[in-house]
Amino acid sequence: MKVSILFCSLAAIGAATPAPSRLQAKRADAPAYAAHTIDQPIDHFQNSSRYEPHTKDTFKQRYFFDSSYYKPGGPVFLYIGGEISGESRFSNLETGIIQILMEKFNGLGVILENRYYGGSYPYNSSTTDELRFLTTEQTIADNAYFRQHATFPGVNGSLNGADVPWIMYGGSLAGAYTAFTMKTYNSIFAGGIGSSATTQALLEYPQWYNPIMKYGPSDCVSRIVDIVDKIDALIDSGNTRGIQQLKEVFGLGALQNLGDFAMTIAFPIGGPMNYPTNTWQELNWNETYGSDDFWDFCSNVTNIDPPKNISSVDKVLSKYSNGEAWVGLGSYADYIKKVLLPSCESGRIDSTDPGCFGTQNQTFYADPSNGGSRSYLYSTCSESGGYQVAPKHGPSLISRALQRNYTQQWCTWAFPPGQHNSVPMSPELHYYNKYGGWNIKAENLALIDGSTDVWLDLCYHSDLAPSPRISSDKYPSYLIAGAGHHWDSYGIKDVAAEPAYIREAHEWEIRTVSRFLQSWTQKH
Ligand SMILES: *[C@@H]1O[C@H](CO)[C@@H](O)[C@H](O)[C@H]1NC(C)=O
Ligand SMILES: *[C@@H]1O[C@H](CO)[C@@H](O)[C@H](O)[C@H]1NC(C)=O
Ligand SMILES: *[C@@H]1O[C@H](CO)[C@@H](O)[C@H](O)[C@H]1NC(C)=O
Ligand SMILES: *[C@@H]1O[C@H](CO)[C@@H](O)[C@H](O)[C@H]1NC(C)=O
Ligand SMILES: *[C@@H]1O[C@H](CO)[C@@H](O)[C@H](O)[C@H]1NC(C)=O
Ligand SMILES: *[C@@H]1O[C@H](CO)[C@@H](O)[C@H](O)[C@H]1NC(C)=O
Ligand SMILES: *[C@@H]1O[C@H](CO)[C@@H](O)[C@H](O)[C@H]1NC(C)=O
Ligand SMILES: *[C@@H]1O[C@H](CO)[C@@H](O)[C@H](O)[C@H]1NC(C)=O
Repeated sequence: MKVSILFCSLAAIGAATPAPSRLQAKRADAPAYAAHTIDQPIDHFQNSSRYEPHTKDTFKQRYFFDSSYYKPGGPVFLYIGGEISGESRFSNLETGIIQILMEKFNGLGVILENRYYGGSYPYNSSTTDELRFLTTEQTIADNAYFRQHATFPGVNGSLNGADVPWIMYGGSLAGAYTAFTMKTYNSIFAGGIGSSATTQALLEYPQWYNPIMKYGPSDCVSRIVDIVDKIDALIDSGNTRGIQQLKEVFGLGALQNLGDFAMTIAFPIGGPMNYPTNTWQELNWNETYGSDDFWDFCSNVTNIDPPKNISSVDKVLSKYSNGEAWVGLGSYADYIKKVLLPSCESGRIDSTDPGCFGTQNQTFYADPSNGGSRSYLYSTCSESGGYQVAPKHGPSLISRALQRNYTQQWCTWAFPPGQHNSVPMSPELHYYNKYGGWNIKAENLALIDGSTDVWLDLCYHSDLAPSPRISSDKYPSYLIAGAGHHWDSYGIKDVAAEPAYIREAHEWEIRTVSRFLQSWTQKH
């Protein structure tokens, strides 16, 4: 779920504008798809005590569509926006999976922006009370309402009729929403594809780092794991002078909070919650849509012949490790200093100024201004969890200073209790897991994942779920070997020219959608 850079997230790290989400993607130059709006009920559950006091108000929910491939009788492809703005998803209409499907099936493609993101806020600010309608069930009810009421100015004929086939697609958190919508409103959709759909909520998600540990350059992984062990031993020793010296090696001597320090040096790897720079998650089969920064980072850490003044840093903390060198520390620290520190333009390292690295600032978090990072944090704190923490046992790529209370503190600061709503002490995962989690099942819901995705263990093909997963026409599933986070959503307007593993995934999706349409025709 969480995105990166260009989409920034959680502010705090005011820093390099971190981004939320389990998705990401480089934002293409925004082409011109006009924003349309639908009057969407704020509260779809007038009978539910959860939303008392109720409101009958509506808000303007934005959508963007492309009818250039549409021919009468064709299907509608509904792309679920998830935790970023509709504009950030335009590449899906231009060159991505929706373009591929529109062209193949003479369909119309439409991006629906999720409530509380982009330009689709029900209220002018996001106080705890105003956020009370940002729940999974309200969000997916929007999808059903949209399918039944959407209009497409300029397109001849209504497309919201009961017999028109609608097929959803979503990646990451939006993939989970797609799956939950198919589960809850199955009869009104011809099908849905959840890509890297994070359908399972776990409070703690140390597994985020597993694919990196397993598939990352092994000498890079082992150097970081060893440095992290030494860092944690030093922290555990309580030697304040040594700990201060350690922070200074990274140019972060000003950071008071050890969690903030641990998070900052983890940024090239990722999280917790914040991704101011590109990580493993932003690798992509086509560099146009991602970034190779992770390879550069590892290439620094594994440099076997760094300049003397860098390699000498490997020994400056040896007195805290029985004389052992911290192999790669100099290169690791040099990378942090060169690539991350400059983003803190004010120089106030330990602050929430843009690009800086402190997060211990309640005032900053409590700002109720509307924003995607705030909305994403709210969903995390209230229903979906997934806190990135160090594992309880075994090797770790991030310091064990990063435990669940590090993420939970932001929830507490950001959402002080309101009159009608407050965030729980810990996310109420049952609101998210009630759709089935890893075992979600709905007719004509396809689930496609990538084996090297950091979010894989919250998806259908998780190592924590039953395996092997056997696909069927009614319950299709596909695990792309060697692919990352919803890599099938990207395309180059020529399926045949794609690398084989992506091409085959796209061909499978085309066949799957053909079957959805056949089964819809049989029913209508
Ligand atoms: C809400 O309750 C009213 C009155 O009990 C009932 O008529 C209506 O069907 C209910 N609506 C839903 C959506 O459950
Ligand atoms: C929100 O802001 C708009 C534009 O400034 C204004 O017209 C509207 O009345 C405001 N709504 C509320 C509920 O304050
Ligand atoms: C609109 O659709 C109707 C019914 O399919 C058809 O008769 C009419 O010619 C269409 N008009 C245009 C402008 O395409
Ligand atoms: C280290 O990282 C920088 C910045 O990404 C990159 O330009 C450089 O090539 C890397 N150096 C090595 C030795 O890999
Ligand atoms: C190492 O030396 C080079 C060349 O003298 C210099 O540019 C660089 O800033 C030094 N790096 C560190 C970490 O001292
Ligand atoms: C804390 O946040 C407030 C509000 O954003 C800001 O004005 C202040 O400079 C921040 N202080 C620090 C130390 O980050
Ligand atoms: C989290 O808990 C640990 C262990 O109890 C403690 O050392 C640390 O200070 C706590 N961190 C926060 C942010 O509360
Ligand atoms: C990557 O995408 C760009 C833009 O669509 C395309 O021109 C290029 O050929 C693609 N490269 C590969 C290796 O697919």
